[in-house]
Formats: sequence, structure tokens, C-alpha cells
Amino acid sequence: MSKIMDLDKEYIASTYNRYPVCFVKGEGSILYDEDGKRYVDMSSGIAVNSFGIADEKWQQAVISQVGKLQHVSNLYYSEPCVKAAELLCGKSGMKKVFFCNSGTESNEAAIKVARKYAAEKKGEDYYTIITLENSFHGRTLAALAATGQEELHQTFKPMMAGFIHTPANDKEALMEAVKNNKIAAIMIECVQGEGGVMKLDDDFIKCIAGICEKEDILMICDEVQTGNGRSGYMYAYQGFGVQPDVATTAKGLAGGLPIGAVLLGEKVKNVFVGGDHGATFGGNLISCAAACSILERLDDVFFASVREKSEYCFKEFEGAEGIEAVDGMGLMIGLKTIKPAADIINECLKHGVVCLPAHGRVRLLPALNIPQELLAEAVSIIKEVCKA
Ligand SMILES: Cc1ncc(COP(=O)(O)O)c(C=O)c1O
Repeated sequence: MSKIMDLDKEYIASTYNRYPVCFVKGEGSILYDEDGKRYVDMSSGIAVNSFGIADEKWQQAVISQVGKLQHVSNLYYSEPCVKAAELLCGKSGMKKVFFCNSGTESNEAAIKVARKYAAEKKGEDYYTIITLENSFHGRTLAALAATGQEELHQTFKPMMAGFIHTPANDKEALMEAVKNNKIAAIMIECVQGEGGVMKLDDDFIKCIAGICEKEDILMICDEVQTGNGRSGYMYAYQGFGVQPDVATTAKGLAGGLPIGAVLLGEKVKNVFVGGDHGATFGGNLISCAAACSILERLDDVFFASVREKSEYCFKEFEGAEGIEAVDGMGLMIGLKTIKPAADIINECLKHGVVCLPAHGRVRLLPALNIPQELLAEAVSIIKEVCKA
């Protein structure tokens, strides 16, 4: 084991089960470990490096901003922040943006928006938010309470009050929960990522949009993982033809730097007023400059290329030996395999392909611009490893 791994074990809190690899550099969709071994990256840092490693335009944007000004605080105006917000609104159908630093923080902020909107419109007892079983919304305490996975709540109780979890794709259970509780919002991931890459049914998502509209309940889409082109659309909700009131996003937005954003629709664009919320690093100039370099390239032609690569993957994996089911959307793909997912991921790593786990499934989140020949190389190795 390398010295880095020894030091990590000694000094880093053991919250992560790391694979025995230390990556030191990369280019595009290729990673190299400390021994110089080459890997095709089908993870992009868990849906973060949208345009791969050391992408030229992203580097230029970051380096140029680093040389000018790295941070000013939210007490002053700044161009990269405004530019990123304008691009986000233009591409999402939303009206205003609150910037923070991560996915979980964006969900915390969305929960505050929902509580405040409902308190002002209907009364303070309308604070309950419905989320789905098997969902994942983050690790901080409100986002964790929102997360519909009981096993993640263990040892951290009591959970924050005000969250109900109903089964995914169960319209009756959802309507029952709306009828029997004072609901502020319904929050969903259009494709449950950490929960195993499960795409929700089209009519279930449309049903949620309908209920929210009728009852003046906020629809919140957690686009932390699905967002920013990952689904083959700017945001996955656009692929389902709905427009939520709030969307949260992070991960791939700044192509590899920390950022989070809450996108606020017409109804809620002015819910937050001075002093309601804040984040020291929110709207950080370098992260926002990086985000602009990503957002400027996310257009319909690009989304079509993501969907084309997705179709290729689905065609290759569906019915392949050792693969029981394929789910997902865009370049967010989950494989239900006959052999345990953990074994497949370890075996792929040995064969130079980096894959991810997600609730017992193999999850693939390559860079959105992965070249077709590298995608084909990785897919063929994964298929070989999956064979029983
Ligand atoms: C759908 C979803 N929401 C929220 C989060 C939390 O994001 P972060 O790890 O940036 O706090 C994640 C992370 O995997 C996610 O997939």
C-alpha cells in the first residue's frame, strides 16, 4: 500500500470506504494512478467533472479568474456570479438564483424557501415536505431528514420534524399524504441517483406537478446529480415536460469546483429577503467563472450528443450476459447485475475502468463529452466483467 494510503488511514476521518487507488492526474476521460496505470473514467468524480479532467476551456476560465480576484464576499457585486445566474435562469426557466457550496446546502436552502412560502401563504403549521422512499438529498440534518433512506438516519436521531416519505411512483400514497397533512412542498429526484439510478415514471412526475399546481404546494426538483446536462437535458424535469417551482443543483455545475445553486421560479423568486439566508463562499468568483465555462457550452446540440451516447450504452447493456436491468437517463446509468455490484466495480478497476456503486447497482456517470471510442472501450470491458 502506498504511503498516501497509510497517511490517509491515519489522519482522515473514516467516513468513506475508499478503493485502493490514488489518482494523480488525468486528461479528458482518462485517469492515471500513482504507478502510471491508465483508467477510463466512467465516474467523473461522481458526476462532477462535466467536461472531463483538465478541460481546456474550464482551465482557462479558472486560471483567468484566479489571477484577477478569488473572492469578495456577498456584501459586494461581482460579474462571474451574475453571469452564472443569468445563464442558469436562461436555461432552466427559473427567475432567480441563490448560490451556495454543495448539493446538500442547496436542499437546505430549498427547504427554507418552502417553509417560508407556505408559512406566509397558508400558516406556520404548513411545513411538511413530502419526499420519496429511497431518495437521497444530502447529509446535513434537514437534507438527511428529507432523505428517504431509514438506514442513513440510524444513530443520528432525532431527525428534524416535517418530512414524510411515500413510495416512488405511487400516486395513491402521495395523494393520501397530501390529503392528510399540511404540506409545504413535494421534493423529488427525477432519477433517484444514490438510491440505485431509478428513473421515476413519467405520469408520476406529471401527477406531482398537477397536485402542486392545484394545491399551491411547491414542487422541488433535486437536480444535484441529474442537472447541468447529465440527464440529456439541461435539467431532467425538462425531459419530463414539467416546470417545478424550485430546483436545486450542484455537482457538475462548476465542472470540478465546489458550488451549489437553488433555482427559484416565478412564484418563489422573492421569498428570500435580506437576512433570510446566506453562505460565505456562495457565489465564489472562481467557482462561478468555472460554472460559466460549463454553462456556455450546454445547448441543444450538446444535449443531443449526450442522449446519443446514452442510447448507445442502453443498447449495449440491455440483454447483455450478466446484466438483469438497465435504468437511468442520459449519461446517468445504473446496471442491475447478476454478480454483486461491488465485485464488478473492483474487477473493472483492475481492468482499468472506473465505475461507481449505487444501492447495490453499478452506476456509470462518465464525463458528458467522453469520446465515443473511450466509451466503447469502457462499455466492452464492463460487459465482459458482468458476464456470469
Ligand atoms: C440527488 C442528490 N442530492 C443531494 C446530494 C448531496 O450533494 P453534496 O454531496 O454536494 O452535498 C447528492 C449527492 O450525491 C445527490 O445525488
